[in-house]
Amino acid sequence: MELITSVEQMQRRCLDERQAGNTISFVPTMGFLHQGHLSLLEEGRERGDLLVLSIFVNPAQFGVGEDFEEYPRDLQQDSRLAEQCGVDILFAPEVKQMYPAGYACYVDVERITEPLCGASRPGHFRGVSTVVNKLFNIVQPHVALFGCKDFQQLAVIRQMVSDLNMPVEIIGMPIVREPDGLAMSSRNVYLTPEQRLQALTLSAVLTQSRDRVRAGERDAKTLLAAARKQIDALPDARLDYLQICHQHSLEEVANVDEDSVMLLAVFVGDTRLIDNSYLLDVS
Ligand code: PAJ
Repeated sequence: MELITSVEQMQRRCLDERQAGNTISFVPTMGFLHQGHLSLLEEGRERGDLLVLSIFVNPAQFGVGEDFEEYPRDLQQDSRLAEQCGVDILFAPEVKQMYPAGYACYVDVERITEPLCGASRPGHFRGVSTVVNKLFNIVQPHVALFGCKDFQQLAVIRQMVSDLNMPVEIIGMPIVREPDGLAMSSRNVYLTPEQRLQALTLSAVLTQSRDRVRAGERDAKTLLAAARKQIDALPDARLDYLQICHQHSLEEVANVDEDSVMLLAVFVGDTRLIDNSYLLDVS
């Protein structure tokens, strides 16, 4: 596996690969890799000749007072895992490479960035769409893989790629969970054992909501009230948002159908966790 830190070198290398007729699969991450990231790499391996992983903790998507400085980093361990997954190139640029002095260009996706995480984290998606756009221009992938764990992020990327006619196929991958249901996240390391136990309520709420829908409940208000009660009962948790939305528009719905997704963000202690699930199986 090659490690590249220079933007110019990475762009040159990928251009050469494309010109040689090779297809490029790309998995952008902020590192501290876990099985969720690895599932994207495994799928990416199948979909291209050259598998590129980027690790870049992107300051532009963190708000003031958020965890940019503390965000967990371990490039050595990540390199080992990446190599085991068959990554060909690990791209890990420095902040000053990506945002040199005088940097002034941002991508703003409208509307679907307004609710949910967009409302709680102003400027977050502007930072995400900007860095993903930059990474696409550097890596020039044919295929890029993202997790449904960050459901709104995936929708924002799809919108950007479609609206800006970017020649890349976006693949959404299922959420990978711990055996007890907790959605894998680099931020889970912040949780104390007691908080981790409380964090299980996020996935439990989703499973129980799905069960209620399976038993016939379709009223979003009723489902949300039951779910909210479970979160409110946790001593160290504070609900950021809990909504049932249409999968594409991300607008709230009154009645659940196949397009409905329940999305939630909860602070457990100081750690903000997100999770989501479709409520009705299409079958
Ligand atoms: P990061 O949080 O490192 O996640 C990188 C990719 O892994 C994202 O597409 C995310 O949805 C996916 N992922 C994370 N946890 C997952 C899980 N449990 N199951 C499946 N996929 C999972 O998301 C980002 O980084 C950044 O915003 C980025 C897109 C790299 C832009 O900076």
